[in-house]
Amino acid sequence: MSDQLIIFDTTLRDGEQSPGASMTKDEKLRIARQLERLKVDVIEAGFAASSQGDFEAVRAIADAIKDSTVCSLARANDRDIARAAEALKGAARSRIHTFIATSELHMEKKLRMSREQVLEQAIQAVRFARNLTDDIEFSPEDGYRSDPEFLARVVEAVIREGARTLNIPDTVGYAVPELYGHFIKTLRERVPNSDQAIWSVHCHNDLGMAVANSLAGVKIGGARQIECTINGLGERAGNCSLEEVVMAVKTRRDYFGLDVRVDPSQIVPASKMVSQTTGFVVQPNKAVVGANAFAHASGIHQDGVLKARDTYEIMRAEDVGWSANKIVLGKLSGRNAFKQRLQELGIQLESEAEINAAFIRFKDLADRKAEIFDEDIIALVMDESVAQEPDHFRLVALAQRSEMGERPQAQVVFAAGEDEHRTQSDGNGPVDAVLKAIESKVQSGAEMLLYSVSAITGGSTESQGEVTVRLQHAGRVVNGVGADPDIVVASAKAYLSALNKLRSKTERVAAQG
Ligand code: KIV
Ligand code: ZN
Repeated sequence: MSDQLIIFDTTLRDGEQSPGASMTKDEKLRIARQLERLKVDVIEAGFAASSQGDFEAVRAIADAIKDSTVCSLARANDRDIARAAEALKGAARSRIHTFIATSELHMEKKLRMSREQVLEQAIQAVRFARNLTDDIEFSPEDGYRSDPEFLARVVEAVIREGARTLNIPDTVGYAVPELYGHFIKTLRERVPNSDQAIWSVHCHNDLGMAVANSLAGVKIGGARQIECTINGLGERAGNCSLEEVVMAVKTRRDYFGLDVRVDPSQIVPASKMVSQTTGFVVQPNKAVVGANAFAHASGIHQDGVLKARDTYEIMRAEDVGWSANKIVLGKLSGRNAFKQRLQELGIQLESEAEINAAFIRFKDLADRKAEIFDEDIIALVMDESVAQEPDHFRLVALAQRSEMGERPQAQVVFAAGEDEHRTQSDGNGPVDAVLKAIESKVQSGAEMLLYSVSAITGGSTESQGEVTVRLQHAGRVVNGVGADPDIVVASAKAYLSALNKLRSKTERVAAQG
């Protein structure tokens, strides 16, 4: 059996299914480039048949990525599979990942199909996909809660049809490590042609065991592919965390005996990019990528680490990319230095006009903030003013006045398409006044589910504030993110960004009819 463990990243597909985590095509492309730098083996870029936006994002990623296989999800039907193949046409290496549910519960209540119908549809889907590509992955959705005997029949049949990767999802995060590991092992033993496929694990984190379950699937079950997401992003409690699983396998190579191609020095930059893009803030005590993951507060620990680092540290912060958090540019840095740093960060702006716009924003920021970090640069290129196609809602100007004991007042000027609106309001605080002023004009009717502020580069009040606003409207949830040294301005940007996302999501659903 191979010693190579395949890392399949699904941040842009399963991760994006998390309410509020939806990303634009440009955002997905930027993250895909970072995943390529991270050297993940497979990037699941989206679900091409689910919307025109998803199709275009998968296509753009397939055209751009050269060093990782690009994959699209597809339900087990000809239309979805053909759409996935079409989106993947330009890829250097592509994979179609098709799935159908196999648990009694899902077949009876969701699909309203019999076992024989599901088996037949799985066979037909893989047969159809086989005409379009060699690299086919099959997932029996809710596989872990399926009848093992029926599951074995489905799996044997799809391998016979040409599925090369067999993924066994714990769709609802119900598994526990030992049982999941043995489930995979027994299934492999039961399926006569199991050696003709690579076995894969896909675990959700509802009971906080996604990483442990995935590792048990590898160690006990013999799986050689793990499906995971950056920061464990994903629906409900999320998916298996890429950073945790990769560092577990690397740090405990003595136990797992497996190699992973991933370059760990790109882990923290990837984590920050995903968090800044989606607005899903990483908890400080999160393993590997949390702000406190390498901080030693207690005197005994500090003393130990100073004397001999490995007294309390099993990994080195710089090995997972924490050293990237250093001052990179300042007020005197020129356009070439800025452009080079963009390249080093894997950020490819599409045109000279975009680079110019970003450089103007950089100069403006450097005038207000002495030290510019990588995170500032990422926030800056995400700013709508840098995009070639400007967003519908854009902040133009903002003034607010607050004084202790007085009710704050805000005046905001923002653009909506070609029109410019002036608006004002009071509020409980300056942020409340600004958001109320915008809402009084836009009248989105959206409910605010979350408002949070954090310092992009931590540590000092000189940092840019990063604001996340989560809005809900007509059953849809979106996150807007805005950054600025002034947190009131950052809040206005975040609110407008969320309104833009709500607007584009509305169009996406409407276009689907
Ligand atoms: O969790 C799940 O079952 C999935 C499948 C589509 C692979 O995401
Ligand atoms: Zn999933």
